[in-house]
Amino acid sequence: MHQNERTMIDEIRAARDQAIASAAAASTLDELRALDVEVLGKKSQMAALKASLGKLDSAEQKKDAGRALNEALSEVEAALFARRAALARDARALQLDAEQLDLTEHLGRPRRGHAHLVTQAWEHLEDVFIGLGFQIAEGPEVESDWYNFEALNMPPSHPARGEWDTLFVDYGEPGTVVLRTHTSPVQIRVMQEQPPPIYMVMPGRVFRRDTPDATHMPVFHQIEGLVIDRGITLADLAGTIEAFTTAYFGKGFSSRLRPSYFPFTEPSAEFDIRSPDGSWIELGGCGMVHPNVLRAGGLDPEEWSGFAFGFGIDRMAKERHGVTDLREMYTNDIRFLEQF
Ligand code: FA5
Repeated sequence: MHQNERTMIDEIRAARDQAIASAAAASTLDELRALDVEVLGKKSQMAALKASLGKLDSAEQKKDAGRALNEALSEVEAALFARRAALARDARALQLDAEQLDLTEHLGRPRRGHAHLVTQAWEHLEDVFIGLGFQIAEGPEVESDWYNFEALNMPPSHPARGEWDTLFVDYGEPGTVVLRTHTSPVQIRVMQEQPPPIYMVMPGRVFRRDTPDATHMPVFHQIEGLVIDRGITLADLAGTIEAFTTAYFGKGFSSRLRPSYFPFTEPSAEFDIRSPDGSWIELGGCGMVHPNVLRAGGLDPEEWSGFAFGFGIDRMAKERHGVTDLREMYTNDIRFLEQF
């Protein structure tokens, strides 16, 4: 091999190696674009080498050096192509990361969710009452006027009906089907379905035309209680409520019964609890089951007596966890919900 040809082939390979090393070292697509021009463009060393091929002596030498140059050029192009693909992939991944729509406000590994605060309270209440010897029953959310009002000692035109801001359902005779305003109709269903003794709690969703505020929602939850047995007195009711208050809220809380009125209990009371900060909050109503209600449930008031109560589950969760506004529970803000 002629000395000139040897030198040129060495130069071609050195230029190739240098270009491949620079391609591998390029850290951005812009850098790579500049490098492309530098190593393959008109002013590149490769272009200069190509131009000097003509200076070689023989056609044979030109052919050898030309082949070496073509091979070197395709190797450099392949290295640039591979590096461009790798950098483009990285850039795309970075962009996707930056543009990711974060619906959960949680970066990193998804965390396990948990039951909503009200569901937790509902389940906890069931546990507490099961611990006190009660069973669980549920009734329908869409009720007849008879179960929601009439069987509970509120005949048509009874003024107490006005206290419940009822939502009527457009079904059957106008005014005969309602979204239940309380869980008390389940008392009647339970009495109709099973003979006493009855020790039952009935949790569920209820509906009223109430404007949302810190302590009211138009859709909320109650847990009804019904005890029917022989010789049940108001003392049993008071004792059950006190036992429940300590079991659910803890030792810092106490309860009181305040005389009140419900058409379906006689005597009737409101049940309030006192939180450790000294404030009182009304959690529910209660009383001795009215004889007319026992009759509507098919029971003889001479033989059976009992008590009933209905508490607001949402308000209990609010008090137990120190939430200041019921509406917070329903805005579904993950930052609020994940605290509980
Ligand atoms: C009743 O609904 C009766 N059925 C309770 C009852 C049952 C009395 C059995 C006697 C025997 P009242 O309307 O007061 O009563 O509602 C009971 C509880 O539900 C309230 O004390 C309160 O804790 C809760 N509550 C009432 N309205 C709302 C509301 N709009 N949002 C959230 N909680 C409410």
